[in-house]
Amino acid sequence: MKNFVLRGNLCTSRTKDRLECIPHGYLVCEGGTSAGMFEELPERFADYPIQDWGDCLILPGLVDLHIHAPQYAFRGTGMDRELLEWLNERAFPEEARYKDLEYAAEAYGIFAENMRASATTRACIFATRHREATELLMDLMEGTGLKTMVGKVNMDRNCPEGLREEGEESLAETRRWIREIKGRYERTDPILTPRFIPACSDAVMRGLGEIQRETGLPVQSHLSENEDEAAWVKELCPWAGCYGEAYDRFGMFGESAPGAGPQTVMAHCVWPAEEEAALLKARGVFVAHCPQSNTNLCSGIAPVREYLDAGIRVGLGTDVAAGCGESVFRAMADAVQVSKLRFKLVRGAGRPLTSAEAFFLGTKGGGAFFGKVGSLEAGYAFDVIVADDRNLARPGGLSVEERLERLIYLSGPEHLRAKYVEGREIFVR
Ligand code: GUN
Ligand code: FE
Repeated sequence: MKNFVLRGNLCTSRTKDRLECIPHGYLVCEGGTSAGMFEELPERFADYPIQDWGDCLILPGLVDLHIHAPQYAFRGTGMDRELLEWLNERAFPEEARYKDLEYAAEAYGIFAENMRASATTRACIFATRHREATELLMDLMEGTGLKTMVGKVNMDRNCPEGLREEGEESLAETRRWIREIKGRYERTDPILTPRFIPACSDAVMRGLGEIQRETGLPVQSHLSENEDEAAWVKELCPWAGCYGEAYDRFGMFGESAPGAGPQTVMAHCVWPAEEEAALLKARGVFVAHCPQSNTNLCSGIAPVREYLDAGIRVGLGTDVAAGCGESVFRAMADAVQVSKLRFKLVRGAGRPLTSAEAFFLGTKGGGAFFGKVGSLEAGYAFDVIVADDRNLARPGGLSVEERLERLIYLSGPEHLRAKYVEGREIFVR
């Protein structure tokens, strides 16, 4: 692995509300890891080649904790429905097409290329229930150079015939998938993916719990997204005190002690019962906050301020295609905006998020799901993006912090000049 130095305007989150910016600073990569941010280059790095990015911004790569690859093809359409109707009328019929590997190759090819070109360096990705198409997606994601976790979805009830997998088969295919990909990839990892409780019988959840204990794999799913969905889970699992317990009973809801239970990320958490928030915290479960999806599907607004105040771990998800694009910068802006609506419209709601907090959620907050990820600080994976905001400039100049805020609101992939993952160049242009 090469050692090198990037020069430019460095900006990273130290804590959830504190940014650290070093104008025209030096960022050192040693063996795929950051060796630190510096105002002057220390003598010990003097031999390393320097890439000078001039007045560009150098930021940690963005982290998407929740995205559905097979829904990418219909993003931006069908936005006039709520969750359960949207699943039946839009998402499930589209996902059924991934039985056809030719279709999957074409559609996943577009997804993978756009993810490569985006500001995202890490992502937790849902595939479909189809094992072969899931492996194809993993091959394509490996080719992008991004570090991702990809899940073959389990769903054995309350979904159309073409998409449902019988419980036994669903578990057998999951085992086969894990076996077949073992050792195949350097940067693409499997993650257990029960779709959500309404689509997973107790038998499938029990079997996945067993697979989890055998393999130690992490878990991703959906939680308390929509009020009708939460009421449905109460009917399906009358024994569960809250929605989260319906996962927890099978050992599929975070860690009861370090290493005891799966590292878990749950999308949405818009309507948490009181004991659910306590369980999220006790189990160290990550919340993937998906503000655009929650707006498009009229799901509501997640109480992110309350989660942060309670010490619950939170990151951002784009949730394509309920969210219409893969931009985590856009998710940051959406997170700030919906928090303001909640602040004004919900009695007793906590204060709105700041841009700095939203930047933290989309970098270091979600990055923690992958380990020491999401920061430029020494010891973190060298996941970095370089942004050129010259065409967003204005007379008089702006501070680095102000320029970062503008990138959050105004930038697109065309503003990116370079992307690195663990020190490896993904693109430079
Ligand atoms: N809950 C279960 N499946 C899905 C999905 O595909 N998208 C969203 N937003 N919520 C879900
Ligand atoms: Fe989702």
